[in-house]
Amino acid sequence: MKMKLVPSLLAASHSFTQMKKQLAPLVKRGLIDAVHVDVMDGEFVENYTLDWLNAELVAKLRKAFPKLFIEVHLMVHAPSSYFDEFAKAGANRIWVHVESIDNEKNLNNGLKKHKKVEFGPALNPETRISTLKGNLRSVLIMSVHPGKGGQRLIPATLTKVKQLRKRFPLMTISIDGGVDVKDIKQIEKAGASEAVCGTAVFKGNDVQNVLRLERQL
Ligand code: DX5
Ligand code: ZN
Repeated sequence: MKMKLVPSLLAASHSFTQMKKQLAPLVKRGLIDAVHVDVMDGEFVENYTLDWLNAELVAKLRKAFPKLFIEVHLMVHAPSSYFDEFAKAGANRIWVHVESIDNEKNLNNGLKKHKKVEFGPALNPETRISTLKGNLRSVLIMSVHPGKGGQRLIPATLTKVKQLRKRFPLMTISIDGGVDVKDIKQIEKAGASEAVCGTAVFKGNDVQNVLRLERQL
């Protein structure tokens, strides 16, 4: 199946007016139907993005693009304390790092409380897939160390994608970090069903970039 591109807004404009202008042609032309919001608290990772990649932004995106699938990648110390605000703002999916505290209980609580939101685990590059538990619909495999955009993909993380795909033919497997035009086909071949792309989409002309990425698939 063809892999889906999910632009990461970490590499988009900080101004919502500009961000809307970047996204509008992509949505209008049907080139994307999802976006990825990287939430960093300065604790779980060094960087802090809550001043702009936050629930308020999700609510504004929800209003501007009612049909857009909005996923929130929580790179935060205590993820469950963010579930309510992001669910209320209109997030469709929330990724929760298995390395963050109290993960299993948090995921289950989130699932129970916010039935319309899809919750899925996110795995750092060094975290083994054997840490995954339960009946999972989706997994986010980090292909860089979380915390910033524009890094190089760590090739060994593709092995995890291959192993997961072998075991779970129907699972949503998303890969996040360092995805670019030259290795996107290889990522798809490894078995990823979605790829989060920040720099590769927003550096330069985003429509041209998405078309170029799509041509590889
Ligand atoms: C990294 C983030 C990624 C990042 C990807 O911590 O989780 O979503 O935005 O950006 P690129 O595609 O530039 O590596
Ligand atoms: Zn991310």
